[in-house]
Amino acid sequence: MYKIAVAGTGYVGLVAGVTFAEVGHQVTCVDIDEEKVKVMKSGVSPIYEEGLEELMQKNYAAGRLEYTTDYKSAYKDADAIFIGVGTPEQPDGSANLSYIATVARQIAETIENDCLIVVKSTVPVGTNDKVEQFIQDFLINDVKVEVASNPEFLAQGSAVHDTLHAARIIIGTESKWAEERLTNIYEPFNLPIVSVNRRSAEMIKYASNDFLALKISYMNDIANLCELVGADVQDVAKGMSFDERIGSKFLNAGIGFGGSCFPKDTKALENLARQNGYDLKTVKAAIDVNKDQKTLLYNKASKRLITFNGLKVAVLGLTFKPGTDDLREAASLENIPLLLEKGADIYAFDPVGAENFAKVHPEGPISNGSITYVSNVEQALQDANVCFVFTEWGEVKAVTSEMYKDLMRTPLVYDGRNIYDVNEMEEAGVEYHSVGRPS
Ligand code: UGA
Repeated sequence: MYKIAVAGTGYVGLVAGVTFAEVGHQVTCVDIDEEKVKVMKSGVSPIYEEGLEELMQKNYAAGRLEYTTDYKSAYKDADAIFIGVGTPEQPDGSANLSYIATVARQIAETIENDCLIVVKSTVPVGTNDKVEQFIQDFLINDVKVEVASNPEFLAQGSAVHDTLHAARIIIGTESKWAEERLTNIYEPFNLPIVSVNRRSAEMIKYASNDFLALKISYMNDIANLCELVGADVQDVAKGMSFDERIGSKFLNAGIGFGGSCFPKDTKALENLARQNGYDLKTVKAAIDVNKDQKTLLYNKASKRLITFNGLKVAVLGLTFKPGTDDLREAASLENIPLLLEKGADIYAFDPVGAENFAKVHPEGPISNGSITYVSNVEQALQDANVCFVFTEWGEVKAVTSEMYKDLMRTPLVYDGRNIYDVNEMEEAGVEYHSVGRPS
């Protein structure tokens, strides 16, 4: 078993640290935020992720998991340091690497043993060569240090499960020593390991995420065409999915992909290509389709209604997908300001995302309209003139056509997640618009 330090306790870092402890390693998670460290020590997870808190408490109690702001004590004698800090998008679409640079410098000035530095954060191809050089330049003690790339493939909402049952572990190294150490660390997970060079590992992450983003945008494009020619995109997706070369996953059309990864990683790869003098047309197209898709339903509704001014608008779901309180690049963030600007009185329901949303748009009058957060779907729908569905939470899927009909003043529903049966809605007397299906 190894002594591991993890830099950064966001989705990637914290889940990695906790699962390393779960398989028996001795782990210290490092974060600069004192308050966050205190919260984690008390057994509370700073992020909403199924199963995470239980594993945090179990491994902390067993003495295999520690949290600290004191990076020196965590790094100095670690066998491996995993970096899971953020690489947020910059205005030009490139990744901001300043957090990685800060951690790299702290590592260089601290380590006293031979140490493998493992970058889990998504970084543009070639970055880890630079990180290694940077660490070598600032290294104080005479120790062996190498940087490996080990991209993360977990999805928010199922992070613990995805990590413990990952389809593959990608290991990108430049020496036998690094390859062996990283393979040994992952050995107890008993998962397929793909060992490649560092740049290929970095590229696998982008190529995988952007492929999935392309798949979604392709289906959204097809959905828009389906509407024009009278086909049903859900039937089309079903028919396609039986071909194993296509598969059944990530074929759901809707209001576009959100989250912290696909939007950022498509732009970053496009940007990397451009810097290298290459026009990455496919990924550019995915970005383009996604941009238009986000406001598709708002635009449809704007054509159908004379005005939103003074209308009660029910919004079901605020987060970018169910199972998370994350709002990054969520469709709600694009649509709600448009509705408020037009004078809508919004009643928003989200089982976990409302608190975060209220930080951006506090309750009360905003712009020409207002926003109120409610604790159940009924309160949102009661007397509403129109309803937008942005996230397919269980509570939202459970709303029946009769509820729409009975609760709303005018049962007019725009569903960005294709949750309900078109015929059922029609039979109940609900005017129902979804994506790529007959209305
Ligand atoms: C994504 C990848 O799925 C993970 O493998 C990857 O590790 C992660 O990015 C990352 O790079 O960290 P995540 O962003 O958490 O994970 O969420 P997804 O479940 O992939 O969903 C992304 C967006 O695509 C959501 O807005 C979702 O609603 C949308 N989506 C997904 C669709 O519109 N249609 C689909 O068929 C599937």
